[in-house]
Amino acid sequence: MEGSRLINGEKIDLGVCYYPEHWDRSLWPEDLDRMLAAGLRTVRVAEFAWSQLEPREGEYTYEFFDSFLDLAQAKGMQVIFCTPTATPPAWLTEKYPEVLNRDMEGHPICHGSRRHYNYNSPVYRKLCRNIVERSAARYGRHPAVVGWQLDNEFNCENDTFYSESDTEAFRLFLRERYGTLENLNRAWGTVFWNQTYTDWGEVYVPRKTNTNSPNPHQQLDYYRFISHSVCTFAKEQADIIRRYCKPGDFITTNGMFGNIDYQRMKAESLDLLMYDSYPNFAYCLDGYDPGDPMKDRNWSRNLAEVRAVSPVFGIMEQQSGANGWNTRMEAPTPRPGQITLWTMQSIAHGADYISYFRWRTCTFGTEIYWHGILDYSGRENRRLREVTQVSDKVAKLREVAGSRYEAKVGILRDYDNIWDCRVDRWHERVESVSQNGLFVALQQAHVPFDYVYLENPLTPEELGRYEVLFYPHASILTTERAKMLNDYVAAGGTLVMGCRTGYKDQNGKCVTDYLPGLAAQMTGTDIPEYSFVPPDQGQSMVDWDGVQVEAPVFNDLLSPVGDGAEVLGVYTSGYYAGTPALIRNTFGKGRAYYFGGAFPPATASVFLRKLGIAEPWGNVVTLPAGCELAVREKNGKRYLFVLNYLPETAEVTLRTELTDLLERSPVSGRIEVEKYGVRVFSLEKSRQP
Ligand code: GLA
Repeated sequence: MEGSRLINGEKIDLGVCYYPEHWDRSLWPEDLDRMLAAGLRTVRVAEFAWSQLEPREGEYTYEFFDSFLDLAQAKGMQVIFCTPTATPPAWLTEKYPEVLNRDMEGHPICHGSRRHYNYNSPVYRKLCRNIVERSAARYGRHPAVVGWQLDNEFNCENDTFYSESDTEAFRLFLRERYGTLENLNRAWGTVFWNQTYTDWGEVYVPRKTNTNSPNPHQQLDYYRFISHSVCTFAKEQADIIRRYCKPGDFITTNGMFGNIDYQRMKAESLDLLMYDSYPNFAYCLDGYDPGDPMKDRNWSRNLAEVRAVSPVFGIMEQQSGANGWNTRMEAPTPRPGQITLWTMQSIAHGADYISYFRWRTCTFGTEIYWHGILDYSGRENRRLREVTQVSDKVAKLREVAGSRYEAKVGILRDYDNIWDCRVDRWHERVESVSQNGLFVALQQAHVPFDYVYLENPLTPEELGRYEVLFYPHASILTTERAKMLNDYVAAGGTLVMGCRTGYKDQNGKCVTDYLPGLAAQMTGTDIPEYSFVPPDQGQSMVDWDGVQVEAPVFNDLLSPVGDGAEVLGVYTSGYYAGTPALIRNTFGKGRAYYFGGAFPPATASVFLRKLGIAEPWGNVVTLPAGCELAVREKNGKRYLFVLNYLPETAEVTLRTELTDLLERSPVSGRIEVEKYGVRVFSLEKSRQP
């Protein structure tokens, strides 16, 4: 981000979300002064403030944000300005009800909450282009503005759309994709249950059907279509802003939600992605899982997803108070230390800008319990003191800015399979177990990892940065992706695949090849039979060289093919005891593993040990499973983050001399990391063992 005043590789910055429209103007100067005193130098504004800019159709008023931005400039505060399109005003939805989203049964999603619009209404598109252009023209060159946020959290709360405009746009999308109805009928297998279409006007977005089971291939295309709708909506706004904004000012959006191809959105519209990180969701009264070993540490998984889009990113909303709407998500306030811990969790994964949500807690509306740094009165409090301390710490991490998270292990992802999981419960059952299992095992064995998206062609060199890649259940396998994998393995990589690989094509239709289809040759595997693990059978176990591993949910019964294929493990339970369950195939210079089940944490951790990739930094630091290790790298220098999520002190051993960046002193040997504590160490290139 050349020329940017934030996230420019020079320092890590803190900011805060502010709603000038929620407070009396007389509070603004004091609020900005107090933010600056706490080390918060950037505010995000205006994402829900359409009525402040256009109170009635065609009537524009700039006095409000002119005053605020001029004040910000006078105080030396930077501003991220948002397009206000997440909340169309009442005058708009009343006059143009077609802009409203509808549920699957056709009921309108009415005014009164947020995100009530659909992306495809031509009139909404026009009104959005208009308000975005007005804002960009007015504030694009304002000296206080450093960047732009598009909308707010695309697809948050609701990621499906069923308005009439969506159906119209879906037809166009499908015509573009398939050309003729004949092709569409073939792609969707409409001959099944007599669904054949004879006119484009018969095609709709999925509607309520008997047993709530619409055509799965239609559904898969529908998710692709939603992503297309969001991406084109974002691009229209980004293209306008770029015509007006100053060089160096960035365009971003916030959050990660369903049915969006963020790789595409980033490429078309964004300089970087920002994320909204609320790890305290783990402690909501509903849904709290005492048995989850990760809890707030699960947000590291989301941060890894953000990094797969933007290697260096920002956090637009970092939790600073309790969660809670008046209707849901009741949660306790962050405990002392947790604001720091969660901020450092974001930085450890690659965030160079952290903006807290929000400055003062709102005194009205749905979010009266979604606390910010300050409570309703604005009085000085513990959380503000902690944020102020964080800004001192972040100043000491200046040299970390611009460094990249470093991982030698990757988990492959693609949107075909992510969306197929939403359509297909058979797929989802194995995928959810393995995505969680791999994450937990990698975390507990302190293995930094990346998610790697196979959306665009990646060369063997790009994939070759990873010693080991997991692609747990690529049910949909395309020739392009199979080629990337073949090339990676042939060049010396190690690939691990799990059950249910390669049995579908891009439409989600089953292939007639011998399974695992396009992965058969590379994995040296044939699958003559498969089954869900019978629920009355107990656990499905595999003997891997004397080590018992569980192969839960679904089992492919394997058979080795070719000279390079070696059976490493066999099932020991059920009617298929003795059948191969794990095959390793030598393919070119590398190796491909095919495992017949899913990967829960214990199984995944056996793989990490057997593949020799557990504890990759073990000769530098040893730490308990309850602590996360994250590593960022710049010019050969490493920054090691140790994050203790536990409510107890952790003992950590440094096996070589490191520099404690927060204490600014050399350190080695046994140290204690206090509960919810964080340490950041630098390791000089010359000292790396
Ligand atoms: C999201 C939104 C914010 C706020 C918080 C809390 O992250 O972007 O506007 O609503 O959730 O609900």
